[in-house]
Amino acid sequence: MDWTNFIDGSPGRDVRALVPRVLELRGQTPPGVAVDLGSGDGTESRFLAVNGWRVHSFDSAPDTQTRTVAGLTQLDAARITPIRIEFEELHALPRNDLTYAGRSLPFCAEAVFPSLWSAIRASIRPSGWFVGDFFGLNDSWFGRSDMNFHSREGIELLLHGFEIFEITETEGPADTPFGAKHLHILTVIARS
Ligand SMILES: C[S@@+](CC[C@H](N)C(=O)[O-])C[C@H]1O[C@@H](n2cnc3c(N)ncnc32)[C@H](O)[C@@H]1O
Repeated sequence: MDWTNFIDGSPGRDVRALVPRVLELRGQTPPGVAVDLGSGDGTESRFLAVNGWRVHSFDSAPDTQTRTVAGLTQLDAARITPIRIEFEELHALPRNDLTYAGRSLPFCAEAVFPSLWSAIRASIRPSGWFVGDFFGLNDSWFGRSDMNFHSREGIELLLHGFEIFEITETEGPADTPFGAKHLHILTVIARS
């Protein structure tokens, strides 16, 4: 999939609501270390960095390193470590207090997803948070082996041992840079 067009197609977009939402849920807990998986144009990484977080951003798209820190002060840019890598090559992640994976994990190959998920689980510290999206079984891309899909029950199993705050399911027609499709997305807020 050509992600460069996708990323360039939404310049200056708003931060995804999930991220300020989880910061609100954390209350007065000071910022810590965050992991942004499939960071795209880096909007959420930058938001976290300017809010005092140390951020490790991962994305396979070209220019990830420069794109993620664009427009930041030197001080804020120094809080982000952007890494260009495929999920399929990612075997371990930095220990963190918050993992954000916005509309990105579904694009990990089905056969590799279990080991990526193990790395994600192992990296989140006790009381740390996972927020992110999965694609459901009714998604029109279901069945592609370069992607992965999950039922609500499957997601609950993936999150075994986590406190699940929310799994919000959204389904319907969607226009995407890759064409019109039926989108089935499950958005998770959970705490380790
Ligand atoms: C739909 S965008 C989401 C971007 C951002 N997280 C957001 O919330 O808008 C998916 C991102 O995942 C990245 N991506 C897709 N497949 C990937 C893979 N196999 N390994 C690493 N990154 C991948 C793409 O480059 C893209 O930036």
